[in-house]
Amino acid sequence: KRVVVFISGGGSNMVALADACAAPDFPAEIVAVISDKPTAGGLAKAAERGIATHVFERRAYGSKGEHEAAILAALAALSPDIICLAGYMRLLSADFIRPYEGRILNIHPSLLPLFPGLHTHQRALDAGMMVAGCTVHFVTEGMDEGPIVAQSVVPVLPGDTSDSLAARVLTVEHRSYAQALRLFADGTLRMGADGRVARTGFA
Ligand code: GRF
Repeated sequence: KRVVVFISGGGSNMVALADACAAPDFPAEIVAVISDKPTAGGLAKAAERGIATHVFERRAYGSKGEHEAAILAALAALSPDIICLAGYMRLLSADFIRPYEGRILNIHPSLLPLFPGLHTHQRALDAGMMVAGCTVHFVTEGMDEGPIVAQSVVPVLPGDTSDSLAARVLTVEHRSYAQALRLFADGTLRMGADGRVARTGFA
């Protein structure tokens, strides 16, 4: 399966997916990395791994629609089977998602539906959570609300700051995303017609 990964920053999740895809039995390959930030650290990490990179800076386009149209045109040429958002900090419009509905995954650094949006670790700490974690989900038109594919849990420890918690969650993000991509790429799971995750292999 052909995968395009979207990043805006360091791209550690993209690296984790690229490392997973490097395994000979992995049912997917990353054919390109797309970023909205020319300074995204993940671009160099992708290039080091021989992965093509494309930058679409928002301010180079007159509107969100034109920005997305440019990205969609690049995707048409890349013809991905799967899009993985990995630290991509921009909301995709319904028009963008529609042609790829059921084939876009995202990783969010909280146990959705808790803490959608930003600053998830600080919010978890402020709420007195004793566990935290990440969620891989299918991307639908709403923000951080698509069908859940995988979740991983970590403990919140005494003295945790948002940075220490973020670091602990990031390690399980990498494992969780790679496993979710494998299961989606090999057809074990998919987004069902009812908008829920359907798993083949058992009813
Ligand atoms: C991660 O916490 C990810 O969950 C969030 O962005 C952060 C940075 O991700 N979406 P990465 O290192 O750029 O993959």
